[in-house]
Amino acid sequence: MSEAPIPRTFTSAGPVRGHARVPGDKSISHRALILSAMAVGESRIEGLLESEDIIATVAALWAMGSEIGQDSNGNWVVNGVGVGGLLQPETALDMGNSGTSARLLMGLAASNAITATFIGDASLSRRPMGRIIEPLSRMGASFSVTPGERLPLMVHGRVPAVPIEYRLPVASAQVKSAIMLAALNTPGVTRVMEPERTRDHSERMLAGFGAEVGIEEVDGERVISVTGEAELNPHNMSIPGDPSSAAFPVVAALLVPGSEVVIQHVGINPTRTGLFEVLKQMDADITYENERDVGGEPVADIRVRHSALTGIEVSPEIAPRMIDEFPILFVAAALAKGETVTTGLQELRHKESDRLALMAEGLAQLGVRLKEHPDGLTIIGSDGEKLKGEYATPQIATALDHRIAMSFAVAGLVSAHGVTIDDVRPMATSFPSFPPMLADLGAIAAE
Ligand code: S3P
Repeated sequence: MSEAPIPRTFTSAGPVRGHARVPGDKSISHRALILSAMAVGESRIEGLLESEDIIATVAALWAMGSEIGQDSNGNWVVNGVGVGGLLQPETALDMGNSGTSARLLMGLAASNAITATFIGDASLSRRPMGRIIEPLSRMGASFSVTPGERLPLMVHGRVPAVPIEYRLPVASAQVKSAIMLAALNTPGVTRVMEPERTRDHSERMLAGFGAEVGIEEVDGERVISVTGEAELNPHNMSIPGDPSSAAFPVVAALLVPGSEVVIQHVGINPTRTGLFEVLKQMDADITYENERDVGGEPVADIRVRHSALTGIEVSPEIAPRMIDEFPILFVAAALAKGETVTTGLQELRHKESDRLALMAEGLAQLGVRLKEHPDGLTIIGSDGEKLKGEYATPQIATALDHRIAMSFAVAGLVSAHGVTIDDVRPMATSFPSFPPMLADLGAIAAE
């Protein structure tokens, strides 16, 4: 990231119209790299997200012995070290802003004969790591960490690690995946019990790499078992577009009158589509076209037309299936007719920022009527009226959070005088091409 913040004002230049693609799925991209690194031989990845979070995973896997590069077509090529084959990294692994890199790679390191130091940026260094340390310690890894259990920390891997049975105390695909990755080099069967269903990309992809992965439904919870000392076969993969990135142009098109867009080749794995379902409950005109399967993941083109939205009470059960999409849902709710109520969202306070606090603060600056609760926001929408706060062009603090930055960029399209984001650099975490994509769709003026 360049040294100084880069502020930018987002103002509507017209309806959002046309066809667009969003970059590769962030969660799937991390897993594709990590599992390729655990196979012996060459894997090829088409459509990998090229963003700062993913580069953090690439650099760490490289530092632990994998060879990673690009072919002449821009596909990524990984020559893995095999399960249990991680090399001792010579320097600290810098996770930047990426919680997924940090937590998944700690899982991987936990059952290898290495000691790895994990560091991160100011945002990541505030995020809780105890949820990872606890299960991985039970598997035999040890940690050097200061009280508070935040980065920087050091993982001392254990060989052989011990298989565990672990019920997730928080709905977290990162914790689930960290345990599954540690299980790969652990003799015996490791089980993770998941009371609330979270994204299942690790399960799907591990099966694709030839690992023994079992999924059962027992008394209403999912039980995922991984048989250790696995051998993964190198694999060629194609990564679908990220529904969490598609969320931003989708909501932009819903909110700006006269809009109609098709976002092509987007992943619609049911563990990720909570936002689209909630928006449809709010009367959004969203349809899936050309539904197909891409490498074990469902994919569609998503057509969206401007819609008059109605506020609803969002069921807290759906939260794990749209956990990253609440910031942009809050923007949609700000334009809806009536009240939108969200609850059960304590986890949002532990993301790249405290997303409940930042969204409440920023939307209030835009004149939105809302209440912040410990576990959610209640928002009274403007019924399609442009947002207008006390200040002509509100200045929004994004606190190194890409999704806060992109949510307020979309809010700028429906604000009377636009919105100024204090820094657009965090968008490079997951969606470096977001502003040019908005310009291509006619939503903002080209820079
Ligand atoms: C992710 C899981 C989620 C999500 C994050 C990506 C993953 O985090 O917020 O952006 O790839 O497993 P939690 O596991 O903390 O819910």
